[in-house]
Amino acid sequence: MTTTLTWQDEVHRLAREQDAVVLAHNYMSPEIQDVADHVGDSLALSRLAASTSARTIVFCGVHFMAETAKILSPDKTVLVPTAEAGCSLADTIDADQLRAWKTEHPGAAVVAYVNTSAAVKAEADVCCTSSNAVDVVRSIPADVPILFLPDQFLGAHVRRETGRSNIEVWLGECHVHAGISPGDVRARLAEHPDADLLVHPECGCASSAIWLAGEGVLPAERTKILSTGGMVGAARATTAATTLVATEIGMLHQLSRVNDRTRFLPVNPRAVCQFMKMTTPELLLRALREGRDEVTVPEAIAARARRSVERMIALGQPGGGE
Ligand code: 13P
Ligand code: SF4
Repeated sequence: MTTTLTWQDEVHRLAREQDAVVLAHNYMSPEIQDVADHVGDSLALSRLAASTSARTIVFCGVHFMAETAKILSPDKTVLVPTAEAGCSLADTIDADQLRAWKTEHPGAAVVAYVNTSAAVKAEADVCCTSSNAVDVVRSIPADVPILFLPDQFLGAHVRRETGRSNIEVWLGECHVHAGISPGDVRARLAEHPDADLLVHPECGCASSAIWLAGEGVLPAERTKILSTGGMVGAARATTAATTLVATEIGMLHQLSRVNDRTRFLPVNPRAVCQFMKMTTPELLLRALREGRDEVTVPEAIAARARRSVERMIALGQPGGGE
């Protein structure tokens, strides 16, 4: 009797043969999440990459995430199934633009979200993720002005939470999250008035969700602004029958995996990141078979970027993965 290997078996066989670990971001398509060794948010996966004993890391996510893994694990081979998987938010600022912005604000501390290129991280003082941005900003003395980049909605969230007025925010946005509007939230809540609401801070609706919660229009105790890793934790803990989710729809698979009692519904079902969906089973197999696309970061840039990422890591244990 002959047995046919599935593509999933082949991924596992090749990964063993190559001494590779397969990491997948929470926005990957369900089949990629299910075949991966670990699923999580961008920072949790980078930390797994840094601590793994595997020689090769296959990062199923977008390019800046694999770059962060390479920055933290310079001696390992880091692969992305396609180097074309970029990020519209990371593309809103490059290192030259950041240098010019710093020149306009001498003495300011630069806080860069991990959704940035290695060259931008190298120009920053400290990095942050959606789960620790408020704590990172709080770690900076109150009288030091801050340049926060590149996400305006996360920046507004940080300003509001810290109450600081000395934060300049870069006007970047992620086209997927900016497209999840306050109108979408209101419409879904009208349909599901008893639902919990999980909102990623990159969303165009994040500010208004907080404001509406403060006004009593949304249930404050059931409205949470969270990173993708934080959403997984909230999904494990909730007893709600229905939870509305304002982020990229790949997230729903992971939430349903950790909690099959709750119905997780997208606030906007069209919130799809085409960069995340570029990773297909075929390209994952190609990565393992052909060792491509390899991610490299010049050491001069990596050394400075590593300092910013490690400063953030030293501040706490944000992010979530399994
Ligand atoms: P997380 O760090 O919360 O996983 O978010 C990454 C991202 O790209 C959000 O769009
Ligand atoms: Fe970038 Fe937005 Fe896609 Fe996240 S969802 S990877 S921020 S384009």
